[in-house]
Amino acid sequence: MTDHLWWQRGVVYQVYPRSFQDSDGDGIGDLEGVRRRLDHLVDLGVDAVWLSPIFPSPMADFGYDVADYCGVDPIFGSLDDLDRLVADVHGRGLKLILDFVPNHSSDQHPWFVESRSSRTASKRDWYIWRDPAPDGGPPNNWISNFGGPAWTYDPVTGQYYHHAFLTEQPDLNWRNPEVRAAMADVLRFWLDRGVDGFRVDVIWHLIKDAGFRDNPVNPHYCAESPDIARLLQLHSADQPEVFDAIAELRAAVDAYDDRVLIGEIYLPVERLVAYYGAELGGVHLPFNFHLILAPWNARAIARLIETYEAALPPGGWPNWVLGNHDQSRVASRIGAAQARVAAMLLLTLRGTPTLYYGDEIGMSDVPVPHELAQDPWEKNEPGHGRDPARTPMPWNRSPKGGFTEGAPWLPMGDPAALNVADQAADPRSTLALHRALLALRRAHPALSVGAYESVPAEGDLLAYRRRDPTTGETFLIVLNLGPDEAMFDAVDGRLTTVLSTHLDHSGTEPEGPLRLRPDEGRILTHLGPSQVG
Ligand code: GLC
Ligand code: MG
Repeated sequence: MTDHLWWQRGVVYQVYPRSFQDSDGDGIGDLEGVRRRLDHLVDLGVDAVWLSPIFPSPMADFGYDVADYCGVDPIFGSLDDLDRLVADVHGRGLKLILDFVPNHSSDQHPWFVESRSSRTASKRDWYIWRDPAPDGGPPNNWISNFGGPAWTYDPVTGQYYHHAFLTEQPDLNWRNPEVRAAMADVLRFWLDRGVDGFRVDVIWHLIKDAGFRDNPVNPHYCAESPDIARLLQLHSADQPEVFDAIAELRAAVDAYDDRVLIGEIYLPVERLVAYYGAELGGVHLPFNFHLILAPWNARAIARLIETYEAALPPGGWPNWVLGNHDQSRVASRIGAAQARVAAMLLLTLRGTPTLYYGDEIGMSDVPVPHELAQDPWEKNEPGHGRDPARTPMPWNRSPKGGFTEGAPWLPMGDPAALNVADQAADPRSTLALHRALLALRRAHPALSVGAYESVPAEGDLLAYRRRDPTTGETFLIVLNLGPDEAMFDAVDGRLTTVLSTHLDHSGTEPEGPLRLRPDEGRILTHLGPSQVG
């Protein structure tokens, strides 16, 4: 089992840099802050750090509007700080993954400034310009992911440009070979600096329908949904030609040893797995967000795991995600007690897990009053904002949580109630659980790269085995996704509990059915009949 690569064996940890650690008192996290907190990641036991964007940006979408793909925004520090971070990350045996945002740039990027200057500008075709409809309106009915039309009229040249997100985020034209070449150069710029890979923003959006046909109406739209859900994104994303573009990015990355390409993709499982690419020449890991999207019940999750495992192409490596900077936090979605069960699930499934900063201490969404809203989506469509899942990390119980000396850019929540230092001292904390799970996973390849086998279970119980085919070492995982005690009957021989989510119990179990407490998960070893005395 030693032939697996670091991004297959390892665990990725997402840092939202604005909210991890501030080092200069401006209330906004920065690269030097991340560097000073690397001990936390080593103690936790993760393998790689993914940083959300740190590039120069007007911050209309907090860095997902890039004005220079080859620099560092002064808010976060400098290129020297990035180089120092790469060196320190590597010095601790970790990897560093950057966010790459190729679908769109900032409207302040020199490429777009040039493109919009005239219809004959040399970079005109680097972005997506179309004539108005006959009535002068937008060229088609496409909607922005943040609400409103996905087109903005530019009076200078009398055409509309396309933006899948904000007006300030014009979409690049990925049908133009010069754009692709420029973007491959960007990858090489960072790879040459020692970066270990990229998480690629909205990769399934890169290519749009050549004919710009209208999107069909979504028959399931309901009033609580955001504007974008009015239409099915049939022609604006997930086009067949996208795979050529991705293959080119992959080739650029493959010219370097041992790097990884991860794609952000919100699609149903059967479409998602297409992004492994023909002969696995797509992204190494198409992010699998289905644990976030599925209803939290044992039967639905069991079906999801089966469906996903069955859909993977031969050799395609699975991955699982419980949270990120665009989604309500797991502890808020399913409750604090179930979030511990979810952590055991995430860290014992086959494939690469990605942990979102703060979830290791069970952070929940911090309410952000509308007048303090930072997220542009919240400003456009109140109630849909992502600020509550992006609040600063509480490192200790002081009012500013050890995050900053200044005024935190988003509210801190209540650091006295939940923080890293207190949990580090508490042997049963959510942090202690994550450390125990990660240590176990590291010590036993069965849990990271071993085979997955579902085990029949009923009601709120979810059960499966993980097995190391080389050594035969096997773990049974039984999770109670409900608030009531539950009995697991399918026990054949004696079981030994290795780890409970409650962190209060281990050792050999009595014969007979296994009793799971409310909201409890267990990792067990199974002594088959032949092994019992
Ligand atoms: C991705 C990012 C999100 C951003 C959007 C536009 O979905 O995760 O935060 O707003 O792309 O770049
Ligand atoms: Mg700062």
